[in-house]
Amino acid sequence: MPDPESFHMSPEEFRRQGHAVVDWIADYCSRVESFPVLSRVQPGEIRAQLPQHPPQQGESFDRIFADVERIILPGITHWQSPNFFAYFPTSTSGPAILGDLLSTGLGVQGMLWSTSPACTELETHVLDWLVPMLGLPDKLLSSSSGGGVIQDAASSASLCALLAARERATQFASNRKGCDGRLIAYISTQTHSSVEKAVKIAGLGSDNLRAIEVDQNFAMRPDTLARQVEADEKAGLVPCFVCATVGTTSSNAIDPVREIGGICREHNLWLHVDSAMSGTAALCPEFRFLHDGMEFADSYCFNPHKWMLTNFDCDCFYVADRKHLIRTLSVLPEYLRNQATESGAVIDYRDWQVPLGRRFRSLKLWFVIRYYGIEGLQRHVREHVRLAQQFAAWVREDARFELAAPVPLNLVCFRLRSGDAENQKLMDQLNHSGDLYLTHTRLDGKMTLRLCVGQTHTEARHVERAWQRIQQATAQLGQS
Ligand SMILES: Cc1ncc(COP(=O)(O)O)c(C=O)c1O
Repeated sequence: MPDPESFHMSPEEFRRQGHAVVDWIADYCSRVESFPVLSRVQPGEIRAQLPQHPPQQGESFDRIFADVERIILPGITHWQSPNFFAYFPTSTSGPAILGDLLSTGLGVQGMLWSTSPACTELETHVLDWLVPMLGLPDKLLSSSSGGGVIQDAASSASLCALLAARERATQFASNRKGCDGRLIAYISTQTHSSVEKAVKIAGLGSDNLRAIEVDQNFAMRPDTLARQVEADEKAGLVPCFVCATVGTTSSNAIDPVREIGGICREHNLWLHVDSAMSGTAALCPEFRFLHDGMEFADSYCFNPHKWMLTNFDCDCFYVADRKHLIRTLSVLPEYLRNQATESGAVIDYRDWQVPLGRRFRSLKLWFVIRYYGIEGLQRHVREHVRLAQQFAAWVREDARFELAAPVPLNLVCFRLRSGDAENQKLMDQLNHSGDLYLTHTRLDGKMTLRLCVGQTHTEARHVERAWQRIQQATAQLGQS
């Protein structure tokens, strides 16, 4: 209930309740393993417990907070459970949570350098740190022609890359006149759906998106790409953008960036490399093969919020030549004019993203990199890759199962040989048990289970237990 005098939560109450909330989060981390990973509520069940109308008078924080445990917690799917193996992870960590809390507490809006210089400069600095950490080319550094910016998500990164590509290809005419229906973008059949969405938003039109076929490893076929680009050029169309993926969502396939990059260079196409989950692995020199050919990329992104222990949202987006992006997105109304901007000596990140406003997200990334150090982050990645490889070996040894795709890193795609219906039953049974959570994809037309090792606290015992549970459930399906 608001303080009757000041009407707001007093600093003293904030301190007390803040400690209680932090205690609750710490307890949650300790007991998260005890919850069914996938929420068991039915559609509408959470809303049915909420009052139809908001309160006329304020309520006590104790009362509000009690409802978190009572109403909200049952409706949570526990992404932070070490038994969460679904989709791709969205990892958190103590330093990241505290960095996010601090960002919220400072409450700054970093749209311009001048609206909080530290917000911009820390972001630029941390994103520059990550360039050599990931073995990325120097041209992505802010001290070179490029630079990095934190986007909310990889989807926004793809959209910004596509918008800049559109403008580069039309000498900024489409910004003024709109698209003329001739611009063409290329993805593979395995590219994340966010690029298709970006094509719709950017006005290219989804008929102008070409999904290039993939090889037996689900990686884009560069020969098919080259042929399609040439055919489109011949037809009087204007190819402008290719998205290559390093670690596709479905199966972790790695598109051949170097060969795709050569085609992009020849035809003057913007190459965006989406490494949303797998980019984190490049922290380890032995996984830098992921970034082979990155010197051809015009833009690149990876999500620390997936596998690098940094709370959602945090996507690191880089461009090789920042002037295209800035010119594409910059609009300067009078009320945003200021001396620092006019001096040309500062970065205004509002010109590097779709929204104007932005949070101080680099704090959590800075905390994570400093707390773990490069070696700590490498250890994290190596252990997850080791566990996934171990799981893949167990699958290989069991005649009832097959691996459905190569396992370059931490995602294992596998299935029962006995067909879609059995795989569906197996997955449903495991997910309903609450012991673990897996999701599926379709590879070569067959229902395939995916097990991704990437949650912050997943250890060998969790992966061992997952395999035991899969074997038990398989036996219950009558398979021996
Ligand atoms: C390769 C890839 N790109 C893009 C995305 C979309 O990520 P975001 O939620 O950050 O937009 C994902 C999500 O899993 C992904 O795996």
